[in-house]
Amino acid sequence: MRVAMFASEMVPYIKTGGLADVIGSLPRALAEKCNQIDVFIPYYREIERLKLPLKKLNINFNLKIGSRKYNGAVFKLITDLQNLTIYFIDNYHFFRRRSQLYIKDGYDYHDNLARFTFFCRGSLEVIKHLSSSGSYDIFHMHDWQTALIGLYAEISDFFQKNSPFRIYTIHNLAYQGKFSRSHFHILGIDSSYFDSLEYWGKFILMKAGILFSDIITTVSPTYAQEIQTKEYGVGLEKLLKQNRSKISGILNGVDYNIWNPETDRYIPSNYSIDDLSGKAICKTALQQHFLLTENPTIPILSVVSRLAWQKGMELVLKVVPKLLDQNKIQFVLLGTGDPKLEQQFNELSKKYPSKVGIALTYNDHLAHQIEAGADIFLMPSRYEPCGLNDKYSLRYGTIPVAFNTGGLADSIIDYSTDANRGTGFLFKTYDESHFISAIDKSLKIFQIEHEWEQIMLRGMLQDFSWQNSADAYFKLYQTRI
Ligand code: ADP
Ligand code: GLC
Repeated sequence: MRVAMFASEMVPYIKTGGLADVIGSLPRALAEKCNQIDVFIPYYREIERLKLPLKKLNINFNLKIGSRKYNGAVFKLITDLQNLTIYFIDNYHFFRRRSQLYIKDGYDYHDNLARFTFFCRGSLEVIKHLSSSGSYDIFHMHDWQTALIGLYAEISDFFQKNSPFRIYTIHNLAYQGKFSRSHFHILGIDSSYFDSLEYWGKFILMKAGILFSDIITTVSPTYAQEIQTKEYGVGLEKLLKQNRSKISGILNGVDYNIWNPETDRYIPSNYSIDDLSGKAICKTALQQHFLLTENPTIPILSVVSRLAWQKGMELVLKVVPKLLDQNKIQFVLLGTGDPKLEQQFNELSKKYPSKVGIALTYNDHLAHQIEAGADIFLMPSRYEPCGLNDKYSLRYGTIPVAFNTGGLADSIIDYSTDANRGTGFLFKTYDESHFISAIDKSLKIFQIEHEWEQIMLRGMLQDFSWQNSADAYFKLYQTRI
């Protein structure tokens, strides 16, 4: 089976969120089952700077995007896995930018539509060349940035002949790729397609993914159900309901080669279920890093997150000061995003310098150090398609306190409901009082050392390795007729 996977980010080359983690791991896990996996991602400036051992292929293409023509090229990276290859789609103008991947100064790039239209069409151009050595059985697209691949494959004579089976994975329904009608011509397709992609006078790329795929997946079983409801459907619930027979949820896995306290190279001391002593060393180091009072008995509550509406940080800002005033906790946060939230967290650290540590940057090493050094991880997400930090926290013995939604509901066992199996604390009504009561429960149990340790150990023993998820994707690939 030959698979082409398309995404806008991938660990270890480029990352803004969990999508990159998934694309870094899933193809590797699938490589054990499929004959060949080729991953297509844009050639961003950050990737150029990695100085990877790339080979520029003798494939050049020229695409008309809107009224202008753009040249494209492709770089090939052979990986340590013989049947996994990465192709980087290049256009200097679209991808080698100094600012972030999708935004500049807090706003989406004005030409995001053109950028990812180019990426989708360019990937297909490259695939046409690569198909001389055999056609692809599967096209697997992720999120709005690659949603057009299914549509382009549908209307292309070349791909109609080969007809790859198309899988579209929704990582976050709220990011839909919405553009105004006046930009539709950029897609370079017949205007009659506008109606299929239309949404309140604009058009949405995610609709192309939903309509022009054989199978749709989301990144947890609960989210697969939630997106079919008005509350979580972000306006697409009806369309998703109509397509429910092709929707399923597969929980993301965790790459335990990267996220594992036994082997983690970024933390000051390794530890395991057999010897937890290293976690205390990590905690002291974290308190030192943030210049907090060094005290092993004060619980550290933590957050590593994009600072976006989805993540419910307003709730953290309401609850944490109260706990700080009661001298119950210390608090550390690593995150970037909404400038208003960044400012509020800054103010919090100024008000409680010995109790609060805030890092408003993107720092992979520090993310590991927080997972290892903190006691409790807060995830009051309003919705969470899968969520990875809760699963990392479980492995690091850092007990999650989270809202009962999406992939959080699918991976955390609520201690308050089942004290013998509990691995964390879930609150089920989304408001301040229910969040604080879940944290309070966790703080009470934190004082009972042996009970807390049992919860930690149960969490650390959970297995979210990619193998199960890759099996589930492979089964879907095999449903190709
Ligand atoms: P989402 O993709 O919605 O942001 P996930 O929980 O799936 O949420 O994944 C977030 C990923 O991004 C995790 O690997 C997390 O450690 C990482 N991350 C988020 N913010 C930062 C940051 N400021 N610094 C380092 N890593 C971060
Ligand atoms: C999205 C979701 C997150 C998920 C990640 C990877 O960014 O917000 O919940 O874990 O994709 O699938």
